[in-house]
Amino acid sequence: MNLSLTINSTSHETTCPASESLLSALRRLGYYGVKFGDEHGLTGADTILLDEKPVNAGLILAAQAVGHVIVTIEALAPYSPIPVGEGLGARSRLHPIQQAFVETGAIQCGYCTPAQILAAKALLDRNYNPTEAEVREAISGVLCRCTGYTKPVQAVLRAAAVLRGEPANSEQPALSKVEGLSVISGFAAAPEMPPTEELIADSGSLITTQVAPKIVVAPEAKPYQVVGKPEVKVDAVKLAQGKPAFAADIELREMLHAKVLHSPHAHARIKKIDVSKARALPGVAAVLTWQDIPRVVYSTAGQSDPIPGPLDSFSLDNKIRFVGDRVAFVAAETSEIAEQALRLIDVEYEILPALFDSTEAMKPGAPILHDEPEYVPFAVCDPQKNLAAEIRIDIGDVNKGFAEADEIFEAEYVVPKVQQAHIEPHVAMTYWDEDDRLVIRTSTQVPFHVRRQLAPVLGLPVKRIRVIKPRIGGGFGGKQEILIEDVAAHLTIATGHPVLYEYSREEEFTASRSRHPMRVRMKTGVKRDGTMTANEMYILSDTGAYGCHALTVTGNTGQKSMALYVGDGEYRMSPNIRFYADIVYTNHTPSGAYRGYGVPQGFWAVERHMEKIARALGLDPLEYRLKNAIHPGEFHPFSTAWNEGREPHPETIHTVGLEECVRQGKAAIGWDEKYGNQEWRTSAKYVVRSAHVAPRTAHCRKGIGVAMVMQGTAIPYLDMGGASIKMNDDGSFNLLVGATDLGTGSDTVLAQMAAEVLGVPTEDMLVYSSDTDFTPFDKGAYASSTTYISGAAVVKAAQQCADRIKVHAARLLGLSDYQTIRLSNKQAIAPDGRAISLTEIALDSLHHSDQEQIMGVASYVSSSSPPPFAAQFAEVTVDTETGAVRVDKLVMAVDGGMIVNPLTASGQVEGGMTQALGYAVCEEMLYDEKGQPFTRDFDRYHIFRADEMPELETIFVETFEPTHPFGVKAVAEIPMDGVAPAVGNAILDAVGVNIDENPVTPEKVWMALKATTDQHR
Ligand code: FES
Repeated sequence: MNLSLTINSTSHETTCPASESLLSALRRLGYYGVKFGDEHGLTGADTILLDEKPVNAGLILAAQAVGHVIVTIEALAPYSPIPVGEGLGARSRLHPIQQAFVETGAIQCGYCTPAQILAAKALLDRNYNPTEAEVREAISGVLCRCTGYTKPVQAVLRAAAVLRGEPANSEQPALSKVEGLSVISGFAAAPEMPPTEELIADSGSLITTQVAPKIVVAPEAKPYQVVGKPEVKVDAVKLAQGKPAFAADIELREMLHAKVLHSPHAHARIKKIDVSKARALPGVAAVLTWQDIPRVVYSTAGQSDPIPGPLDSFSLDNKIRFVGDRVAFVAAETSEIAEQALRLIDVEYEILPALFDSTEAMKPGAPILHDEPEYVPFAVCDPQKNLAAEIRIDIGDVNKGFAEADEIFEAEYVVPKVQQAHIEPHVAMTYWDEDDRLVIRTSTQVPFHVRRQLAPVLGLPVKRIRVIKPRIGGGFGGKQEILIEDVAAHLTIATGHPVLYEYSREEEFTASRSRHPMRVRMKTGVKRDGTMTANEMYILSDTGAYGCHALTVTGNTGQKSMALYVGDGEYRMSPNIRFYADIVYTNHTPSGAYRGYGVPQGFWAVERHMEKIARALGLDPLEYRLKNAIHPGEFHPFSTAWNEGREPHPETIHTVGLEECVRQGKAAIGWDEKYGNQEWRTSAKYVVRSAHVAPRTAHCRKGIGVAMVMQGTAIPYLDMGGASIKMNDDGSFNLLVGATDLGTGSDTVLAQMAAEVLGVPTEDMLVYSSDTDFTPFDKGAYASSTTYISGAAVVKAAQQCADRIKVHAARLLGLSDYQTIRLSNKQAIAPDGRAISLTEIALDSLHHSDQEQIMGVASYVSSSSPPPFAAQFAEVTVDTETGAVRVDKLVMAVDGGMIVNPLTASGQVEGGMTQALGYAVCEEMLYDEKGQPFTRDFDRYHIFRADEMPELETIFVETFEPTHPFGVKAVAEIPMDGVAPAVGNAILDAVGVNIDENPVTPEKVWMALKATTDQHR
């Protein structure tokens, strides 16, 4: 049908099928700012304004929009030429809401940003002075998995102030001394913010936002010009504008759309498959089954060579192992035709007995999932026992430690399967270039692993594959999996056409990867004074149908969480730790990498267990933990025994800021006033009112809890990052990195470090990441390694550049020793104060004398994996009648080394705490008895909205890590680790019941309370 659509005041005549959604039509017409997030509009990524109201473009037909006023993000900052003299930093044409999102650090991956901005615009167009609660409600229809909403809310309030004509508060953080330590306080709230009491009266929300975190500055901190500053993200402007930055934001001629037929059965063999009707459907270009492509065994886990896990997957197989496994691929002119073709494929299955209980997996007679002869094991691995991996680590003499204990505490803990739930689904586009090389444009965390691992699968040499990683709309480990690239690539190889394959949200839930569910048994020996004498953990981990990350995720569970507590006194010198694990196949959706990489599972068990022990022995829970926690100068206990299946190397931990984290966190949460305070626990005046939990105050109890956690920073002797930097004619630089910024801000912090070394502002570093043809190798974004590993490579490359700049400057300034020159303020400055600009040096080196391209290329591998540490606090209200738990406040004090960018780092902590909050109280993937997934959308899998959030507070306790030039450690994963146990411990504090299986749902709390009541009857 022919339609006339008025989009951003421009009339478009277009022809489309009657069934085309407005989302599809808008993107087809080039409005890429509107995004696909899910089929039901529940992510809100497809939000546009229709007659000034936010609506889901994916839920209405294009035809229904005829005669209405459509506004997309592209209307907010229409193009106009940049005036002469202004550089890329010119942002004056942004709408005030976009400007505020950029300035406050409200943009991480940016996939939800256009929708959030439009939702905010609809609010501010009718209410120029909203309360914070009104802002939260207005953007609550747009899910964000990255930010925790703190900064987006502040951005909207800031924009409101600007639109009211008030000057936005753009003060930079100011230094002040607190208790002998320098403390940076955050940005003040936007002007005219109503006081907290007013917010309570207006809406029930108790939340007030603060953009920048508190930072306890390390004594070694230097007064850097760029590093340590809240620099604007290098990609923030284009993301705020909704520019076509993501993998699916381009359209190629004759592009085909891919769809996959997924298995309806959990375990079956394909006896017969007839695709003749599907192939005959007009518009279908290819239908592929297991008979049509080479049978190459591989692992979908994007990891370094050799893959530390079994090779047990095929692009297509004649056996399927979970509901959602692949059966056939289709490429067609439209996705609707491809869907239709899927329905025309006839498959005859031989149903096999299935395995859903990990405790049954290794028993004799259990169904065998992997009986294929091509299976390639890694380390201890036995497919005949459904064993994907086995770990047995003994440190010290555990049996002697237990014999010396006064008390032994044993308990079992259970953690669920949960989803990464990045708002941008997996998406890949493949095409042949003019040299007949296969280009894979994909939303991946691991472009170089994609190229290396897919080459044999596709039957192409590595040199004939180019992988381009554009902006990524969140990954959280889910895109460390090589999950869909092969589908599009096989179809491009079969048809010669470009192919786009984008997961639906249902596919994300049923055919993607997720966090390993585990049963964790703890046994701990303790003396009466609280000295731990031995600690033991056994894990039964469910890897699902394939063993992707089976060994390494579960290995991390023990390696990180069991390393934190080593004991005290003689036990500190020689800790007694045992960590055993069996990682088994079942017919569930495969598990894989998810932010935290096994460690959140471990700390749920360790920190719930520590709390119980402290209470049982009558010890202060903070002092008991600190007494046994590892100290600086001690060996990482696991470094002598394990390194992800490779050779271990003993490693000393240099920096541990845990005690200061506890001190800061205690003060922020009000621990001393609340812990053990019966009046606070029970008095109605302390029980918060909430819009979402309706507490009957007489039945509500307050509680406070803590968890201490540690993570790692990269994988030592393995993770490698590379960087190259070249100088341009005007003294700016191109920084090329293979590291992948998946919304974390890593491009920005890498640019900051390079800019610091080269004495230029961050905007003079033009960052490009990543393209396997142009950028140096990097193992990708995982293991909390980018700032540390790739950052060290960037610093090395920048130092090489700096040396060449100084050599040229010395000649131009007539100096004999170039090393006396320093670079600052875009100049090379001699000891006597004479200076020459980098522009002059660049022109001279490129065009005039001693000509050379000033550049640096470097790579870095670390022999260390310095752990970050944190103290996580939670305050909750529990309704004893319903079991409903309201988390009122989360405080996290983190030692992540030196902080390169407080805005991006605190954004990581806020977003991580929010994901972890879902892990604590509501997120869980559920299956029926036949392995059918119950959770297939964001209705049945709830992630937190802006209007449901507790107050979040982030504190950085800096320590200077000596193994990195700027003293950094990791910060991205550790926020995932402590929220769930801190909430669990707070519930114990509130109502005296232990919930050992997360998420802690109202049903579980109510059942536990009822059991206690029944016991006392
Ligand atoms: S910034 Fe919101 S989903 Fe990534």
